[in-house]
Amino acid sequence: MVAKTRGPSKIRLKAPWEIDLLRKANAIVAEVLQKLKEIIEPGVSAWDLNLIAEEIVRKRGAQPAFKGYRGYPFSLCVSVNEEVVHGLPLKEKVLKEGDIVSLDFGAIYEGYIGDAAITVGVGEVSEEAKRLMQVTEEALYKAIDKARVGYRVQDISVTIQKHAEKHGYNVIRDFVGHGVGQMLHEPPEVPNYGRPGKGPKLLAGMVLAIEPMVVTGSYEVEVLADGWTAVTKDRGLAAHYEHSVVITARGPEILSRI
Ligand code: MF3
Ligand code: CO
Repeated sequence: MVAKTRGPSKIRLKAPWEIDLLRKANAIVAEVLQKLKEIIEPGVSAWDLNLIAEEIVRKRGAQPAFKGYRGYPFSLCVSVNEEVVHGLPLKEKVLKEGDIVSLDFGAIYEGYIGDAAITVGVGEVSEEAKRLMQVTEEALYKAIDKARVGYRVQDISVTIQKHAEKHGYNVIRDFVGHGVGQMLHEPPEVPNYGRPGKGPKLLAGMVLAIEPMVVTGSYEVEVLADGWTAVTKDRGLAAHYEHSVVITARGPEILSRI
């Protein structure tokens, strides 16, 4: 189904049987993130996390969604401290006490894609890091509560922005949330900033990946020479949480709940 929206983008509404497959894909993503969270400790390398993620996804009869997507060479994104998104899971990226690490994973199950992310502290982390993670996760859940028929996309966006800025943080502009389904990135874009009442109307059957990326300093980012890793220009800390959510007549359902 295609929702009528302004602009060229067509937002495809998902049928109940498609939601079932998205639920399965996202359950695998949630299992992977839960497992990775449990094993994270100082000394673990991002490479190991990528291998474990691949092992679980294959065992569940699914495929990694990011591998090969626009040429991305791994299954998992591991973004540490000032890395915002798309950090590479390299062998030499060894986690140390006090780091915060964002894990972003996608799985394809019977052609349907699950996508979610969490940020995890390694051992004891600073009060500032804890607060950043907490505020970013709160922003995600407040935003999900706006994923309801009757609101518009930017009601989600502005909820994230308001919550982050209220705590003295900033939201990333250069990367956005998105529709998700048979493709990883479908319309509409779901920015982390915006204006109330703007953007496409939310309808039952829309599936959105809502993903606040929040930083302690400036929201400006640059991409490292590896062509992927996005870091804050001022090297301020970044946190990233993401859920795939379906809008139903009865309200939001989080497909990737851990
Ligand atoms: N969750 C991210 C996104 O939705 C991950 C994409 S990584 C990529 O954009 F490698 F696949 F691009
Ligand atoms: Co995403």
